[in-house]
Amino acid sequence: MRLPVHRIAVVNKITAFVLFMAVNTCGQVLAQPAPRLTIDFNNDWKFFLGNDSNAINPNYNDAAWRQLRLPHDWSIEGNFSEKNAATTQGGALPGGIGWYRKTFVLPAAAANKNTRVEFDGVYRNSEVWINGHWLGKRPYGYISFSYDITAFLRKAPAKNVMVVKADNSQQPNSRWYTGSGIYRNTRLVCTNKTAAIKQWGTFITTPRVSDSQATIHISTSITHPAKPGPGFTVSTDIYDAAGKLVSAENIAATQNIQKDDKKDDAALNYNCLIKIDRPTLWSADNPYLYKAVTKLTEHGKLLDVSTTVFGIRSCYFDADKGFFLNNKPLKIKGVCNHHDLGALGAAVNVRAIERQLQLLKAMGCNAIRTAHNPPAPELLELCDKMGFLVMVEAFDMWRKKKNKFDYSADFDEWHRQDIRDMVLRDRNHPSVFMWSIGNEIREQFDSTGIGLARELVAIVKEADPSRPVTAALSEWNPAKNFLYQSGALDIVGLNYHHEVYEDFHRYYPGKVFLGAENMSAFATRGHYDMPSDSSYFWPAKSPQKIVEHGNPDFTVSAYDQVSAYWGSTHETTWKIIKKHDYLSGLFVWSGFDFLGEPIPYPWPARSSYYGIIDLAGFPKDVYYMYQSEWTSKPVLHVFPHWNWQPGKQVDVWVYYNNADGVELFLNGKSLGVKSKLGEDLHVMWRVPFAGTLKAVSYKIKATGAQSASRSAVLVQEIHTAGAPAAIRLKADRSTIKTGGKDLSFITAQILDKQGYPVPDADNLLSFSVDGAGTLAATDNGYQADTSSFKTASRKCWKGLALAIVQSSQKQGNITVSVSSPGLKPAVITLKTSR
Ligand code: GAL
Repeated sequence: MRLPVHRIAVVNKITAFVLFMAVNTCGQVLAQPAPRLTIDFNNDWKFFLGNDSNAINPNYNDAAWRQLRLPHDWSIEGNFSEKNAATTQGGALPGGIGWYRKTFVLPAAAANKNTRVEFDGVYRNSEVWINGHWLGKRPYGYISFSYDITAFLRKAPAKNVMVVKADNSQQPNSRWYTGSGIYRNTRLVCTNKTAAIKQWGTFITTPRVSDSQATIHISTSITHPAKPGPGFTVSTDIYDAAGKLVSAENIAATQNIQKDDKKDDAALNYNCLIKIDRPTLWSADNPYLYKAVTKLTEHGKLLDVSTTVFGIRSCYFDADKGFFLNNKPLKIKGVCNHHDLGALGAAVNVRAIERQLQLLKAMGCNAIRTAHNPPAPELLELCDKMGFLVMVEAFDMWRKKKNKFDYSADFDEWHRQDIRDMVLRDRNHPSVFMWSIGNEIREQFDSTGIGLARELVAIVKEADPSRPVTAALSEWNPAKNFLYQSGALDIVGLNYHHEVYEDFHRYYPGKVFLGAENMSAFATRGHYDMPSDSSYFWPAKSPQKIVEHGNPDFTVSAYDQVSAYWGSTHETTWKIIKKHDYLSGLFVWSGFDFLGEPIPYPWPARSSYYGIIDLAGFPKDVYYMYQSEWTSKPVLHVFPHWNWQPGKQVDVWVYYNNADGVELFLNGKSLGVKSKLGEDLHVMWRVPFAGTLKAVSYKIKATGAQSASRSAVLVQEIHTAGAPAAIRLKADRSTIKTGGKDLSFITAQILDKQGYPVPDADNLLSFSVDGAGTLAATDNGYQADTSSFKTASRKCWKGLALAIVQSSQKQGNITVSVSSPGLKPAVITLKTSR
């Protein structure tokens, strides 16, 4: 069976066309009045952690409240405690109620327009007031929403007051860390009263794509209070990535507009087809983007403009051959990620997301699953630009709860709108290639799942008929899975149960397979338990989630040998998935360690062990297994460190590729060449600890019947380190942009006096930041470190610590100094640019 999927997707980013406007971050309009204004609404909010409903009153005195800029997550500012009601599963950080107030003057250019306020997400139970008028509430913490505030706005110079309440006090309400507050971006959007393109009103698909031509279908939904008369036009121009006009369509639209009775009485739909010759296709390797500029005019007067960034690509799933992008097979090498950004919490920061994606890209990852909720729009914009496929997921639960106070209580009233809005907002991103209606939904186990699955899929398909829909199923047996039995799912997304994958077509004849969630292997960066050549479950069996005889320091071995009983080691599942074309791919649980769900340990563990990369963004060893399998760049990764008791038998693992074997040398003496045999993904030696370790990977070429020549590909040496002596600082970027958003991630590594990294160093470092920046957070990636992320003093974990430095509004240099008793202090200087 061949499932057609859509042939194009676009980024539906309705922004004012730059020719007409510019708005600075204080919300002042700098250029000509434009048909549409998009005003950054993140600055100058007042915040109060606590409950005071008097704050609704426009005259309320908030002088004593803290001033801040959004996005903001108050939970990450708090202290870890076993007593926090979120529990360690939720990250052991505080929840509560928070109030935000913003007093603002409407720019003159917006005075005669329709104005809405857009929120990309507020965790959770948000309520919003403008000038004392209640605008509404939105319980789901991951959904974007907006309110039309036109009727309540006062014109300049009068002041307006917007008030937002976020209530995350009822806990636990999540199985992972959520963050609290207005943790995503906000903006005002002001459009013409005569006619405007609706929010999420653009939908672009490509019904036909080939190398020679792409047909693009653009549907534009507009508001027009009266029936548009003659002289009303909707036009769309398409520009390539270099800004060159490649196609223009300018049609008097009145005859083409149909009233969209089903959805919205006030909306009118305009459809057009545009052809592009010799299109450059979007792919993971070449994420090429076009721009569609849609304009509404009446008798030559410009009424609205919106720009939609889009990519042209085709994709489909084949039950036997797997996934195809632009008609070429592509194994989905994905990871599941929660939304937190480690020590920065849930507060959206573009650079922090980009860094995560860069690390994943370098590993060879090509897909992200937004576990288990709609993502920030910025994640999708980056995935469009950087070349990741994305499975966007709606829910972690429906009516049946997983936590006492979770979304299940809101599901009946809100699920239709929430899932519809998710699809409308994100349906144009070329990165988004499928939808998931939920993760491990309890209704999969009984017949109530049938009706709900059908309903949710129908809502998704109505808003976007072009993409396949799945659900992440934990019950693998089709006879027992009611979501599958609904017949509504295009793709069978299985969580875990790798043991049945090779029998997939026996259980699901003719169906498409996707590993929606896999592995759940654990590791603490830099910790190694031996022997390493046997794998085990922690805890050993159901239903426990806490290991009884773990390590006293709450570590898990970083040899790929420990997993949850419902999962497997990384190697086990990947070996199966890579073998068969019909296994279209997988999503590893998880790309990064995340806050919360510290299985297999109780408090003080407070963040997860599942990541291929730790919470601070330091890769664990298994990162290089994936890199050796998922990329073609040469990899040679030898571990563990080389600081052991003399004589200890140490298991040395080597991940490598692009070579026929690896030779290991101990103190210059060869321990022989080993090659991966059969399905092997690493080679191993058991070595008595002594001296220096060196590994060389080789290409071996036969030069005769009995002879061969070897050429070295890569060499790695590991030295035994002495006592800590110095701190080495390395910034991921030494120039960052001013303005208070950009970040530099600075790694502090402890070295001995010869300059070798000290693998077990746990020195306490004190960071100080001077000049044009501030210290945003510190971390070390250790899952059981309970000091606040805001502290400037951070112990190293296994020789490393991280400082996250943020630019300010100032120009100039940023000096980061680090000191620690007994060590030579270190300083690094960062530059800022506009
Ligand atoms: C899955 C679940 C994930 C996470 C994972 C941990 O069952 O979907 O959210 O809890 O287990 O192994």
